[in-house]
Amino acid sequence: MICVKLNILVTGGSGFIGSHLCKALLEKGHYVINIDNFDDFYNYQIKIKNTLYSLSSEEILFDKEDDKSSALKKLSSGIEGFKNYSLYICDICDSKAVEKIFKVRSIEVIIHLAALAGVRPSIDRPLEYEKVNVRGTTKLLEFSKKYGIKKFICASSSSVYGNNKKFPFSEDDSVDQTVSPYAATKKSCELIAHVYHHLYAIDMIILRFFTVYGPGQRPDLAIHKFTILMSFGEKIPFFGNGSTSRDYTYIDDITEGILNSLDYVTQRTGVYEILNLGNHQNVSLKEMVKTLESALSIKANLQLFPLPAGDVEKTCADISKAKKMIKYFPKTGFREGIDNFVEWFKKRS
Ligand SMILES: NC(=O)c1ccc[n+]([C@@H]2O[C@H](COP(=O)([O-])OP(=O)(O)OC[C@H]3O[C@@H](n4cnc5c(N)ncnc54)[C@H](O)[C@@H]3O)[C@@H](O)[C@H]2O)c1
Repeated sequence: MICVKLNILVTGGSGFIGSHLCKALLEKGHYVINIDNFDDFYNYQIKIKNTLYSLSSEEILFDKEDDKSSALKKLSSGIEGFKNYSLYICDICDSKAVEKIFKVRSIEVIIHLAALAGVRPSIDRPLEYEKVNVRGTTKLLEFSKKYGIKKFICASSSSVYGNNKKFPFSEDDSVDQTVSPYAATKKSCELIAHVYHHLYAIDMIILRFFTVYGPGQRPDLAIHKFTILMSFGEKIPFFGNGSTSRDYTYIDDITEGILNSLDYVTQRTGVYEILNLGNHQNVSLKEMVKTLESALSIKANLQLFPLPAGDVEKTCADISKAKKMIKYFPKTGFREGIDNFVEWFKKRS
């Protein structure tokens, strides 16, 4: 197989999934242009570490007293010399700044991961979610049209299925019954992406990720949050009776799914596809906590709460389409993935 080196714009490349993806793209010899605004959804220092992880580097030195702006300046100048990688600390909604990047870079593919993630915070901040996720995506699609970029991969989410009663969730199921602003913004991205495919022949793959976990996981997500609380001997918030369940998908499997989508979309024209990237494995909240207890050798202290509005009860991906189309075969079982996460967590703390 011919291995083509591409100029790839990754948005949100300093986030959890983005940093793993950037590392993998660099290892394959692609040129990576990362646009990330280091937003305050969680601590910017984590995103600095993520960025350095992509570059397999820990070399840039920071002072404990550095505020966010000085730390980001040091990061930017420290990574200037890195081959095949550029970082633009910039908001995807800032049209002027983003257009400057499109003007000077010959971007061939966009992998759009930047977003305000998280179901629960979206209930308190729906307008911000709409601005970043829907308008931000539309702006990038406008630039794709204007600068003739014909390959676009976009992150969506299992949350678009809402409380779908049919299991596992298949791409053909209706996603008209979303139950959170976040999910509605992701469904909106899928729709607007189709418009740009239809009108401007942009080849498009939409990836519905199912609860991604593993080293570097966002600290607001349950596995990481519970691990921090348990290691400090604090109570963990336990919603409902423990029967809610998620299709947890390991980060390396997700990264491979994105890379395979990249191969697929760059080798074909006339593409608009929606794909589930999950693990086809259902783990209940109770089982997740038990697995963490065993991996950490710490007994969890539960604080019981009713299930919050906006949370879905169960997710499980039908991955037969992704298997067939992009040869997506997730390999990491839940226990193995949790062990890897805990090992990473212990090293980092
Ligand atoms: N992690 C999961 O389980 C999961 C599940 C389903 C879908 N997703 C989607 O995958 C994508 C990546 O998720 P993640 O878990 O890595 O989240 P993340 O928050 O770690 O990464 C998102 C990155 O986007 C950046 N960003 C946010 N707003 C921006 C803006 N306006 N301009 C530029 N950059 C901006 C953030 O600084 C962050 O680094 C998101 O689109 C998310 O909705 C994630």
